[in-house]
Amino acid sequence: TEKIAYRASILHSIADPKDVGLEKSYQYFEDGMIVVENGHIVDIGEAEQVQARHPSNIETVKFENKLLTSGFIDTHIHYPQTGMIASYGEQLLDWLENYTFPEELRFKNPVYAQKVASLFLDELASNGTTTALVFGTVHKESVYVFFEEAEKRKLRMIAGKVLMDRNAPEYLTDTPESGYLDSKELIERWHNRGRLLYAVTPRFAPTSTDAQLETVGRLLKEYPNVFMHTHLSENKKEIEWVMELFPDRDNYLDVYDHFGMLHERSVFAHGIHLSDCECQRLSESGSAISFCPTSNLFLGSGLLNLPKLEKFNINVGMGTDVGAGTSFSLLQTMSEAYKIMQLQQEKLHPLKSLFLATLGGARALRLEDKIGNLEVGKEADFVVLDLHATQLMRFRMNQAKNLEEKLFVLMSLGDDRTVSQTYIYGEKAYDINGQHSDQKIA
Ligand code: GUN
Ligand code: FE
Repeated sequence: TEKIAYRASILHSIADPKDVGLEKSYQYFEDGMIVVENGHIVDIGEAEQVQARHPSNIETVKFENKLLTSGFIDTHIHYPQTGMIASYGEQLLDWLENYTFPEELRFKNPVYAQKVASLFLDELASNGTTTALVFGTVHKESVYVFFEEAEKRKLRMIAGKVLMDRNAPEYLTDTPESGYLDSKELIERWHNRGRLLYAVTPRFAPTSTDAQLETVGRLLKEYPNVFMHTHLSENKKEIEWVMELFPDRDNYLDVYDHFGMLHERSVFAHGIHLSDCECQRLSESGSAISFCPTSNLFLGSGLLNLPKLEKFNINVGMGTDVGAGTSFSLLQTMSEAYKIMQLQQEKLHPLKSLFLATLGGARALRLEDKIGNLEVGKEADFVVLDLHATQLMRFRMNQAKNLEEKLFVLMSLGDDRTVSQTYIYGEKAYDINGQHSDQKIA
């Protein structure tokens, strides 16, 4: 109801550099202002011009030496893996067996799940992430408590219960029937409740039977607006295993395609080792890939061929993939993305990275009309970044010649120390100097 203005240097992404060129892909106001009302952006521009459009007594919060931008969007993350981030020594399949499954078992207990969900959402806020597409565990309660915590914080979040009915310890499997019914119940309860959305979440092809994958296709038909979230083509051994388990299918993606799992709201994490045919089908179906650099390096999975995905016009967002990913920070994730491109003799421009971590993520999640930048009418999820967060950052920033250089330094050196404030739906949800909305894990 009450309007509040925020004055700072403001930068946001307004288009994909691939479509309009770098220059037209962003807006920057050195002395800028946004006005927020009822959780939405109602004005943006040069401070003096914005001020002139509003009554002079409007409350104004002013930030010095800060860069205000829209909240980061994490298109792939596992909240139950918060407690096993940085587990040593294994690649995907052994990592799942030795570390992931035992930790996910603990989410049978909703009290533990609730504690971790709370800690996880605190961690997102302190890293400037305002929307995420989130894996739960096989337990429906794990998703229930996650949504409860997200609802308290008025977050725009997408999450789902893991479907997994084979090739996993018995204590962590459901059945095609129970997984279907639990998903249905969660959809009815949570999908489109406030800002929350549901994703049907089969873990990946090897852990579901044909019968279970059929239920995924069925759920997507019954609820055409829910998301589909899974893993695809992450690790070479995984791909071999998929082809052994599904010998009649042409390739890994074809397994999902066969069961009607590709649509506009399908998001596939990784997609590192894709053939041209698979890229073609992802593109035609409007599916998206989540690029997870820190995870891909940590598990030794491989280097994503981003130019190839772009050539096929596939939507791409950034993902941390915590707990295989090693940081909740999208800034750190962008830094590792740059290095992954360097290893392939490719450049990743900081404005392209900004797009991927904000508007590109919103586009991949089909939420571009609601989030992803600071245009009038969007939900007011934004972050205030401190360009002088550390002594090194301040020293280096003073040597940076222009906005692009500053942005690159911000991404290369930035992390949660760089995130000064995070605003969710127009309200301050995190402040690095305390006043943090308190919940701490015991
Ligand atoms: N593939 C199947 N499950 C997982 C998981 O939990 N993390 C990652 N990185 N890949 C997976
Ligand atoms: Fe993952």
